[in-house]
Amino acid sequence: MTSSLQCVDCAQQYPIRRVLYACESCGGLLDVQHDTSALSPAISPAFFDGRLGALAAPYNSGVWRFKELIYPGIHDSAIVSRMEGNTNLYELPRVAAFAGVDTLFLKHEGENPTGSFKDRGMTTGVTQARILGMDRVACASTGNTSASMASYAAQANMQGIIFLQNQQIALGKLAQGIAFGATCLQINADFDRNMELARLAADKLGIYLLNSINPFRLEGQKSIMFEALQQLRWQAPDWIVVPGGNLGNSSAFGKGLREMLEIGLIDRLPRLAIIQAEGANPLYRHFSTGFRQYEPVKAETIATAVKIGNPVNLQKAIRTLEWTNGVVEEVSDQQIMDAKAIIDGAGVGCEPASACSLAGTRKLVERGVIKRGDAVLGILTGHVLKDPEATIAYHGGRLPDVAPQFRNEMLQVEDNLDDIIRVLNQRRP
Ligand code: F0G
Repeated sequence: MTSSLQCVDCAQQYPIRRVLYACESCGGLLDVQHDTSALSPAISPAFFDGRLGALAAPYNSGVWRFKELIYPGIHDSAIVSRMEGNTNLYELPRVAAFAGVDTLFLKHEGENPTGSFKDRGMTTGVTQARILGMDRVACASTGNTSASMASYAAQANMQGIIFLQNQQIALGKLAQGIAFGATCLQINADFDRNMELARLAADKLGIYLLNSINPFRLEGQKSIMFEALQQLRWQAPDWIVVPGGNLGNSSAFGKGLREMLEIGLIDRLPRLAIIQAEGANPLYRHFSTGFRQYEPVKAETIATAVKIGNPVNLQKAIRTLEWTNGVVEEVSDQQIMDAKAIIDGAGVGCEPASACSLAGTRKLVERGVIKRGDAVLGILTGHVLKDPEATIAYHGGRLPDVAPQFRNEMLQVEDNLDDIIRVLNQRRP
């Protein structure tokens, strides 16, 4: 079994054990390329279905259940895992009605060990760091990558180093990085600048970079598609809808879906819809102008996870859009927070950026791009507890430029039974 790193632009190949994030000849992004031709006969739905319910490592992980497609040939003892994945697929009638479709599945990646999909990419990224003999790993982050990296680095006895902007990090995420013992650098710069700084520092100091520019991250994140399609009995939905920030997921989904089609695990490709926040929409702008000229933006949105103006995986996301006949949509902070209140109100909940999936689906249905009868799989990327401040501010009516449409206001009641009864009588269902 041979695997290599391969440039997405010029196809130049490099050995798998090189520490490399871009092509040395043309600067293009790199793929991890496995030779799956030798595997194809063995791989089938039944092969992976046979591992469902496994109790022992590594197949008890929703990433490593698909090991042959993630990182074939490595020894199980090299794997750094927290039994990530195995996340639920929800069908919530009220949420589907809000979106305007008959069939909506929501895959909740906030149910991963550190509360976001990043754990799927971190198990592969930190495993590769261990294989390479690294003792330090680093990332720039809007909060979830850093929380996840801190956890997996601690598990692997490595030093985790995180580059955080000094404002607008959601509280839950900040707390995780500190709690898991990472070295936390608060820097007076936005995510995009922190990303540049992390790359420069990693290069200079020989630290392994674990942002999604690292192609091993995306290998793990492909498993969101593998697992979702397994849960859907290997029947592709019409649409997959995902928030887009640094565009790692969008890129991983395209690669994973194409591999599944090539191997014969599915018989058609779903269309991908990437949803960006209006204030952080460089891919949307690029897409809307026919990919003629790309310009980064200065990002601003309540969905701080996707407050990114210059996504590192742009080229891979464009490739995904081509492969899947995909589309890009943008949604306002108002639409994001209202959609979040609908998901929260169904008792499931998610963080603001995740609600792009629902807000975007609704908008694409209104625009006639997604049809009512289409089957839609939306990805919820992060847990409701990640950003309690945004939730409380929304319901308290304290978010600038957002007028809450689905408000659950706190009621102030006196220390008095009559008062409590009066208030509860007013609120009968
Ligand atoms: N949703 C959540 C909750 C995220 O944390 C992120 C990215 C995204 C969506 C966007 O995903 O980058 O693959 O397009 N968060 C990164 C971080 C950037 O640092 O935690 P993407």
